[in-house]
This record gives sequence, structure tokens and C-alpha cells, in this order.
Amino acid sequence: MITAQVVFATITGNNEDVADIITERFEDRGLDVNQSEISQTDPTVFNEVDICIVCPYTYDEGQLPEEGMDFYDELNEMDLSGKIFGVAGSGDVFYEEYYNLAVDKFESAFLKAGATKGTDSVKINLEPDEIDIEALDEFVDALIVKAQTKNND
Ligand SMILES: Cc1cc2nc3c(=O)[nH]c(=O)nc-3n(C[C@H](O)[C@H](O)[C@H](O)COP(=O)(O)O)c2cc1C
Repeated sequence: MITAQVVFATITGNNEDVADIITERFEDRGLDVNQSEISQTDPTVFNEVDICIVCPYTYDEGQLPEEGMDFYDELNEMDLSGKIFGVAGSGDVFYEEYYNLAVDKFESAFLKAGATKGTDSVKINLEPDEIDIEALDEFVDALIVKAQTKNND
């Protein structure tokens, strides 16, 4: 069975909502999925699953979540070759050129770790709305297809 780990960082709950939507879609699709908060998570959990997901908020003009810095630094040094990854986060368009930059930074960290991008990252403005939920469901479905294709190689 394909397995997934969804790691989120949140202050006001939007990225926990994003993680919940993703986790629920994986469950609906019959996958074995775990969800955890970033400061409570050792990134080596990604070694144990097929699909690795991070849902970060962005702070202070493009900064990563403070409580996720150790996780991020460790992720950059890992070898996640053979793993599929996806990043989906909530930021705020008010911050213009700094909008959701933590999403891009986590994408770069996964690529540095040698993981395979399963689908395009999803950037959400504040609370996920109906259109965002559809985008997140498609994000999950694309990750599953990618993992299935890889397993059949
Ligand atoms: C002080 C402060 C700085 C922020 N800086 C950014 C930023 O640079 N880029 C961005 O996209 N969002 C920024 N945000 C918005 C948050 O990322 C956004 O509200 C997000 O939905 C919060 O996620 P959470 O509810 O999971 O904590 C900032 C918010 C605050 C309060």
C-alpha cells in the first residue's frame, strides 16, 4: 500500500486546515496517511513513506516558520531519492513578492534531498475556500498517480 506523511506548520490554523484537507483526501483514496505538526516531527519519518508533504506558512517577508527551522535544515541534508514530494501552503497575497515563499523554499529543500516532485506546489491565500479544496484534491490525486507509476517501474 502507498503511504504518505503530511507535516504542517501553523500559527492561526490555516495550514492545519490545508493539511486536514490533504489527509482526508488520502484517506478517501484508501492510502495509509499520517499527519503531524512540524516541531513535533523528525524529518526522518519521510524515509518510512512513499509520499512526503509539507504545508508551511510564510512569515516576516518570506521567512520560514521559526519552529520549522531545524526540520528544514535537516531536510536539506537528507537523501530522499526514490520519494515523491508535494508542497502546499497558505500565505497572504498582501505580502506580494513574499507571497508563500516558504512553499518555494520547501520545494527547493526536497529537490536538494533528491526527492521527485510529484506535482506543482499549491499556494493558497489565507483560509482554503471551495476552489482551493478542489486544487488540493487534484494535488493529492496527482501525487498518488505519480507514486503508482513509480511503484510499477
Ligand atoms: C507578521 C506576519 C508576517 C507575514 N508574512 C508573510 C509573508 O511574507 N508572505 C506570505 O505569504 N504571508 C505572510 N503572512 C501571512 C500568513 O502566512 C498567512 O496568514 C497564513 O495563512 C498563516 O497560516 P497559519 O494560519 O497556518 O498560521 C504573514 C503574517 C503575519 C502575521
